[in-house]
Amino acid sequence: MKILVTGGAGYIGSHTCVELLNAGHDIVMVDNLSNSSEKSIDRVKEITRKDFEFYKCDILDYDGLTKVFDENKFDSVIHFAGFKAVGESCEKPIEYYHNNMTGTFILLRVMKEHGVKNIVFSSSATVYGIPESVPIKEDAPLFAINPYGSTKLMLERALSDVQSADKEMSVVLLRYFNPIGAHESGMIGEDPNGIPNNLLPYVAQVAVGRLPKVNVFGNNYPTPDGTGVRDYIHITDLALGHLKAVEKKTGVSGVHIYNLGTGQGYSVLEIIKAFGKAAGKEIPYEIAPNRPGDAAICYADATKAKEELGWRAERGIEKMCADAWNWQSKNPDGYR
Ligand SMILES: NC(=O)c1ccc[n+]([C@@H]2O[C@H](COP(=O)([O-])OP(=O)(O)OC[C@H]3O[C@@H](n4cnc5c(N)ncnc54)[C@H](O)[C@@H]3O)[C@@H](O)[C@H]2O)c1
Repeated sequence: MKILVTGGAGYIGSHTCVELLNAGHDIVMVDNLSNSSEKSIDRVKEITRKDFEFYKCDILDYDGLTKVFDENKFDSVIHFAGFKAVGESCEKPIEYYHNNMTGTFILLRVMKEHGVKNIVFSSSATVYGIPESVPIKEDAPLFAINPYGSTKLMLERALSDVQSADKEMSVVLLRYFNPIGAHESGMIGEDPNGIPNNLLPYVAQVAVGRLPKVNVFGNNYPTPDGTGVRDYIHITDLALGHLKAVEKKTGVSGVHIYNLGTGQGYSVLEIIKAFGKAAGKEIPYEIAPNRPGDAAICYADATKAKEELGWRAERGIEKMCADAWNWQSKNPDGYR
């Protein structure tokens, strides 16, 4: 298949491109490099020993995107491009709504004009808001608690409406839980700009001495050790979920929704301990006040993806931490 990957130079996009290329698909990558480095593209080529075309293009640029579609005939689009930081979305809601929503609408318009009817969209477990119960199934109530989450929820709805208007379309909504880790080569990984928002890159930067200690937000949750519990998934397992989704659902009309998680929760302290073990050093941490809007426990029921896509996460917490450490220690300053 020939697949357009938007946001392909980013964390999840680059790992997905590796798995798509390894499986023998042709890809074309579009990214404006607003939150990524061109080096990740070179490294995807190095890991896979395969070449592909990269367009430095903003998905908000209708003419630029039209050129990409004029020059290629795509079977499907995997759409990662977007802003993703919850905190920043509260400070810059206009930028988040514009980039994530308008960007997707322009992409959908160009897809329609070129008769491309298959899309896999990066959604998030954030659409479940603060879950009423765990494990979370795909039919759980949906609720957005910040502008970033609103963009995901509204785009899920918009994509479903677009599919209702064109019954031939296949829309896959993948709700990711917490991707961590890196490709096992240590050549590509998560490279956040500035202070990381997510736990694992933060822990990794403490381990290499870039940050002094980890702040653990709250230790009075109703969990075994009092810290928040999340469903961490190895980035390669997540990437393989995209491969399965695009292979199984291209040409299968409808809206297909899947949780991509392991189905197992780990606490913040368990992650800090596992990472310390992988890195062979103690990770200093301090208990800080709870953050408003943080759920105590959040993990997936990933049975639907197993039954319908034949996919399940196979890499455990030790592998996630070992690969994250391998990437961080080989690239202490990321791609810089
Ligand atoms: N990482 C997570 O924890 C997580 C969890 C759930 C969902 N998601 C979603 O998955 C997708 C990918 O996330 P990621 O972690 O790889 O983020 P990332 O920032 O590493 O990758 C996103 C890529 O999109 C590009 N981009 C942003 N706006 C663009 C635009 N207008 N035009 C072209 N390119 C643009 C960025 O340069 C970047 O390379 C995002 O949509 C994100 O919201 C991520």
